Amino acid sequence: MVVVIAANPLSFLHSLRPRHLGPSFATSFGSPNAFMAASSLPSCPKRLRNPFSYPCQVHNQAAHSLPPHKKEIFKSMEDWVQKNVLIYLKPVEKCWQPQDLLPDSNSEEFYMKIKEIREKAKEIPDDYFVALVGDMITEEALPTYQTMLNTGDGVRDETGASPTSWAVWIRAWTSEENRHGDLLNKYLYLSGRVDMKKIEKTTQYLIGSGMDPMTENNPYLLFIYTSFQERATFISHGNTANLAMKYGDKELAKLCGTIAADEKRHEIAYTKIIEKLFEIDPDGTILAFADMMKKKIIMPAHMMFDGQDENLFQHYSTVAQRLGVYTAKDYNDILECKVSKWNVEKLTGLSSEGRRAQDYVCGLVPKFRKLEEKVAMRAKRAPTIPLSWIFYRQV
Ligand SMILES: [Fe+2]
Ligand SMILES: [Fe+2]
Repeated sequence: MVVVIAANPLSFLHSLRPRHLGPSFATSFGSPNAFMAASSLPSCPKRLRNPFSYPCQVHNQAAHSLPPHKKEIFKSMEDWVQKNVLIYLKPVEKCWQPQDLLPDSNSEEFYMKIKEIREKAKEIPDDYFVALVGDMITEEALPTYQTMLNTGDGVRDETGASPTSWAVWIRAWTSEENRHGDLLNKYLYLSGRVDMKKIEKTTQYLIGSGMDPMTENNPYLLFIYTSFQERATFISHGNTANLAMKYGDKELAKLCGTIAADEKRHEIAYTKIIEKLFEIDPDGTILAFADMMKKKIIMPAHMMFDGQDENLFQHYSTVAQRLGVYTAKDYNDILECKVSKWNVEKLTGLSSEGRRAQDYVCGLVPKFRKLEEKVAMRAKRAPTIPLSWIFYRQV
């Protein structure tokens, strides 16, 4: 998952919003005004005096909304996960490692290779580095994402080394993801273009802050979230690869493209889990989908902070939007892709609540499409700001 990156169309319009929100899964698809209410909340209502995290408070967090009888569904999926999900993991011996894509420090050519990296990096604009740093910090907050998955009722790794298929997936997925932040971190360190201490501090704050995707310990909500998020990271790393190529840095393009390929595999796995849940429990799954969309898929690094800039995530998102690394259009494309993949329009046999959820979800893409241009214009017109990650140069 993790999970890069950037933002949904509404985050550009409303900036960071507090997590007061929304109806829980249990009451899920209720108020038609929830969308508007969530959007109009003031940001950062209460300052925290906590030196370990982002200085805004997270409110009213719902928990354990999965009804006990639905926990059984996840138990009964054990074998299916073994045969249909674990196949999207790669055996460690077949995996790439950061060292495969970076200069070998034991080699005679080490210094020369670093010089080459730095010469190429000089040709790349600052806004690209801001997007890449944001992606890296998001990857580096991996402890939070493993924690999130282990909040899931019926799927969590109960012991830390549980043999269940769900637990095997969570640990192996985490271990694959661990290479992403590691690789980007080492590249950025060698590039000589960014302020590593400020970046490291941002990562420490972010892990200390955690995240609040409003998934309520509920694996329906969790896996809808990860299905989206993995595709978002696939798109974002893919775009940083394309841009690196445009700037003439093939090695950097390969590095970002290699990470993107992992994200794609992860996306397929999570999307399959939801596909299966639609088969087993169409009503529960469409309600969960609508609930997540009402809350909006917030990005995992939404509580990013460098010790100074309380709107750091918004600033990074604006740069990513402007540069085309991750845009409001991408968010809508992801939604459209999932609606089509899960055949949402053609679901049958739903309860009346389920049908309302179906209509709601199907109506979102055209609604969001209308906002895309507005978001792009707003990002284009946003004033440049100095960012600590690049020694306060303006982007
Ligand atoms: Fe991933
Ligand atoms: Fe990743």
